[in-house]
Order: sequence, then C-alpha cells, then structure tokens
Amino acid sequence: MREEIAMERIPVSGPWITQKEIDYVADAVAHAWYANANMYHERFQKAFAEYLGVRFAVCLPSATSGIHLSLLALGVGPGDEVIVPDVTWIASTAPITYVGATPVFADIDPQTWCLSTASFVDCLSPRTKAVIPVDLYGSMPDMDSLLAAAKHRGVAVIEDAAEAIGSTYKGKKAGSFGDTSVYSFHGSKTLTTGEGGMLVTDREDIHQRVLILRDHGREPGDRMFWNKEVAYKYKMSSMQAALGLAQLERVEELIARKRQIFGWYVRELAGLEGLTLNYDPPDKQVVHWMITVIVDPRFGIEKHRLMDLMSERGIDCRPFFHPLSSLPAYVDNGQARQAAQRNVVSYRISPNGMNLPSGMNMTEEKVAYVCSALRDILKL
Ligand SMILES: Cc1ncc(COP(=O)(O)O)c(C=O)c1O
Repeated sequence: MREEIAMERIPVSGPWITQKEIDYVADAVAHAWYANANMYHERFQKAFAEYLGVRFAVCLPSATSGIHLSLLALGVGPGDEVIVPDVTWIASTAPITYVGATPVFADIDPQTWCLSTASFVDCLSPRTKAVIPVDLYGSMPDMDSLLAAAKHRGVAVIEDAAEAIGSTYKGKKAGSFGDTSVYSFHGSKTLTTGEGGMLVTDREDIHQRVLILRDHGREPGDRMFWNKEVAYKYKMSSMQAALGLAQLERVEELIARKRQIFGWYVRELAGLEGLTLNYDPPDKQVVHWMITVIVDPRFGIEKHRLMDLMSERGIDCRPFFHPLSSLPAYVDNGQARQAAQRNVVSYRISPNGMNLPSGMNMTEEKVAYVCSALRDILKL
C-alpha cells in the first residue's frame, strides 16, 4: 500500500472540488452576463462578510491587490514605514513598496510564528503608519496586545489573513481584526477560486475608497467612463466568484477536513523528540493551512536538504518562508541588515522549517507515508 502511494507524487497543496463548485461555475458561464454580470460577486461578498461578521467585503483578483488597496485607502505613501513580520510570503510586503513606503521587518513569536508584539513595539518610529500582522499558516498572533499597542500609537492595522480561513482568536474570526483585512483564494488555499482574494472591513470610508481605487478611479456604478483619478483595475471574474461562493457554502466541511489532516500528522509526529508542529492552541480554534514541521538543528539537516530527501520519496514539500530581510529582493532595504541582527527567532526557526503536504486530498494513508519517510530520513 505504501509503495503504491509512493508511485504517485504527493503534492504539497491542492483543493477539494465537488459537483457543487462545477455547477456554480457552469451557471456563471451560462448566465452571469449582461444585467446579471455581478450576481455571483454580490452573493459571494455578502456571504463572506456574514461568515466573518464584518460589514463589507470586496472580491479581488488576489490578496496582494487587497493589501495594495488597503495601503492606498489608509493613505500610506512615501516617507511612511509599515511594520511587518520578517517571516511571511513576500505578497504581505511587496505592496508597501508599490506605494513608495518602507517595510520594517519585525521578529516573530517562537510559539505562534506570527508577529511578536514586543518586536513590533521595538520597531515603532514616528514614521510608522501601519502594521501588517500575518496569520501565518493559519496561526494567530497575540491580537490583544498587538491591537492595543497599535491603537496606543495610532498605527493602522491591515490583517493579512490570506492563509487563515477558519481560524479564530478568542472566538473572533481571522480577518476581522484590522482596519482592513485580506484573504487569498489562491489554488493552494483551503477555500479557493483558483486565483482570487477578498478585502474586508467594517469601515464605510475605506470600503467606499476601495471601490473607487479598484475600478480605475470611478464611482461605483459609473457608466459614463468618468474617471476622477488614475487608479487600478482589480476585479475578480464571475466564474471565480461562483467558485468561491460554492466553496464558502462548504466552508465548515473544508475546515473540518484540514483539522482532520492536522490530527493525522499530530498522531504520527507529535511527541517525537526534536520535531515541532504548528502551534495548536488549547481551544483548537485555528486551521493550519500548511502543516509545518520544525526540525531541531541537532539533526544537522537544513530545510532544502530535507526537501530533497522527501522529494526522492515522491513527496513535495516547501521551505518555511525565509526571513524577508535575507532575500535579494530586499538587499537595498536600509533596515534589512538591522533586521537580520535583531530577528533572532526568525533566523533560528526558518532554516529548519518545512511545509508538509497539506492538500485537501490528503488521506490517512498518505499522511502515514509522509511521516514514515520523515522519520526514516531523521532516523526517528
Ligand atoms: C501570507 C500571505 N499573504 C498574502 C498572500 C497573497 O495572496 P495572493 O496570491 O492571493 O495575492 C499569500 C499567498 O499565498 C500569503 O500566503
């Protein structure tokens, strides 16, 4: 059985699509045109806002565009600094450069792997305009202390919940903490539209501003091609919105599957000396988008070598995100060298972390195979 599994490569991620998704997309292709062009956008946005318990949701082509629009709507621009966790996907930070502001890389917390409040406070300066906490791999930062510190200093919060559908913090859903928050529906995500994203907010002023900024600077509903400013074109297609709606109607099922996959990994790996999985808080109310293992440095195998060895066994893994301050992309960022000195947790964890296959099609047998390969490599 295990050999049979090894014959087909195990991908690192992938969706769970049913007939419902196919039917909704087919219906959008057939009917979402002319006066009905936005029917699936409207349903998806309304249902998503209701699901999160926020007032407004705007579907977009990506979470990256959501962060870009958030920064623009909050008035972040040249001369401003935006604090971000050093360890995240570059999409969390690239839009800071798009608007001419400067990313400042703060350290992560050793348990949650999310932005450390203490490090955030250390990085504050008179130029700090916003902070982008990231719910990394579905984990949640200590929102209470982070939001209190941000509020105290008048710093706007953009929550990057791209990876965190289904996660909650003290009973409140990921994506409901920021002045704005964003979700990604990239093909690897728990809830997917292939490519896509959502910006959510409770603030009417931001909602209105985003609707203008994302449609070439014209008022919502404008039919007269009356552009009041030069802006952006950030829209989702109706086929994507239909797919998103179908997935959202199954969200509890998607979340339950993710939790189940995590449970299988825990059963196989938890308790093994030298391995650390994603932090699972006592209330179990987070959904681990990418199930991730940190391997103690005493094994003497850093993540790239480990990935190669897993790949030889037919298993696709991904590296724990590198500290952004270590990437060539930020070689000209004046703060990166300082960050590399300061962010000891980021630099300690990242070299030994690896995302394990976490796709929605994982089975108990596949998880057992992946874990036996890992144990075999590490001689555990
Ligand atoms: C933490 C984080 N932020 C932002 C993004 C960007 O999402 P998108 O690819 O939809 O732009 C991703 C995507 O993987 C992500 O993981």
